[in-house]
Amino acid sequence: MSHDLLQRRFDALGRNAPLFYDRPVHLVRGEGVWVEDSDGRRYLDAYNNVPHVGHCHPRVVEAVARQAATLNLHTRYLHETVVEYAERLTATLAEPLDTAILTCSGSEANELALRMARFATGRSGLIVSDFSYHGNTATLASVTTCFPVVEAFPAHARAVRVPDPRHDGAGLTEAELADRYVAEVVAAVRSLEQEGHGVAVILLDSFFANEGLPDPVPGYVARAVETVRAAGGLFVCDEVQAGFGRTGDAMWGHELVGVVPDIVTMGKPMGNGHPVAGVVAGNDLVSDFQAASTYFNTFGGNPVSAAAAMAVLDVLEEEQLQRNAQVVGGYVRGHLEKLAARHEVVGAVRGRGLFFGIEIQDDGRPAPDLTKRLVNDMRERGVLLSRIGRHDNVLKMRPPLSFSQADADFLLGTLDDALTGL
Ligand SMILES: Cc1ncc(COP(=O)(O)O)c(C=O)c1O
Repeated sequence: MSHDLLQRRFDALGRNAPLFYDRPVHLVRGEGVWVEDSDGRRYLDAYNNVPHVGHCHPRVVEAVARQAATLNLHTRYLHETVVEYAERLTATLAEPLDTAILTCSGSEANELALRMARFATGRSGLIVSDFSYHGNTATLASVTTCFPVVEAFPAHARAVRVPDPRHDGAGLTEAELADRYVAEVVAAVRSLEQEGHGVAVILLDSFFANEGLPDPVPGYVARAVETVRAAGGLFVCDEVQAGFGRTGDAMWGHELVGVVPDIVTMGKPMGNGHPVAGVVAGNDLVSDFQAASTYFNTFGGNPVSAAAAMAVLDVLEEEQLQRNAQVVGGYVRGHLEKLAARHEVVGAVRGRGLFFGIEIQDDGRPAPDLTKRLVNDMRERGVLLSRIGRHDNVLKMRPPLSFSQADADFLLGTLDDALTGL
């Protein structure tokens, strides 16, 4: 049955539409942190950040169903829920981030943020990290640096390395490490200016998720942003992965690096699976852009999307899921350190809150093949996770925020067995 579905998928969606695992999983339902396949087998979901408050959370399901049964249409009418949602969302962010535009995907949000930044600064230059992904529009694809794309990297963009103290910090203090990498931003700004582009924006993921969750280097992001601002550019902070409390210690990843961005983008977890995303900036920035350039999004923030997103905020608050991410995340991290001490193939433990990774190594060198084996083996053992990073050797774990200590024990026990069996 699943084999037939796989063939039909190749035929209907193309042979290279991405799929996880050597033996893809055919999932048919989910509840909380568990999903079930077509044979009735259950898997612990230690990977998916989209069902942020848990798969099929009844509160979100009910809010979506109720609104879908009442009214859903495009976004150019007055509707209470979207306004209240924007008020509640922006109240979680520091001044001057008080105005939202809702979209349907993180890609749309980042694309819009770049347009706004270019308009506000009158410049075109763009700085990203050299191992990043921010979306699938033509502009964002052209500055994708972590996997292959057909678009050429543009002349008005620069890719800078971000510090990874575990690997390039040897013999350097944190301040020296920050200096070294801020110097790359200074050089990028200078060369954009010399070529007449100027710098409009530095676009960074506050948690460097696709980069493989390197430990933060105090001061690095703040100084990189300062450099760009001094040249007249803005900081667009991509919170698509780190936002909505995932890091446990803060609602937004940028709070942890101590910088208030000019524009924040968000997506994946926002509607618990319903496609809603957004851009938040100061009212002048948003209003001036919209005065100069009509922006409307047929589906972005429609009544059903707004109801889904509102229910996510409700559940986050009522079930104190950010706090849960902090507590359970700390527990997992401590136990991952113990696994690292017992298994030679485990290198550095990375991450924070319910977003963590372990490096898999062989003789001290990155071991992407072993990591891939481990990901597939964990799937066979009933735990879903994946891998990321420059060398594809960081095991990526990012479960729904309702992940409990018992779920963590199941994950850790299974991981221990899989590492032993390598
Ligand atoms: C950091 C980051 N930004 C933006 C996006 C794009 O979001 P979407 O797939 O909703 O367009 C992704 C998707 O993986 C992402 O990881």
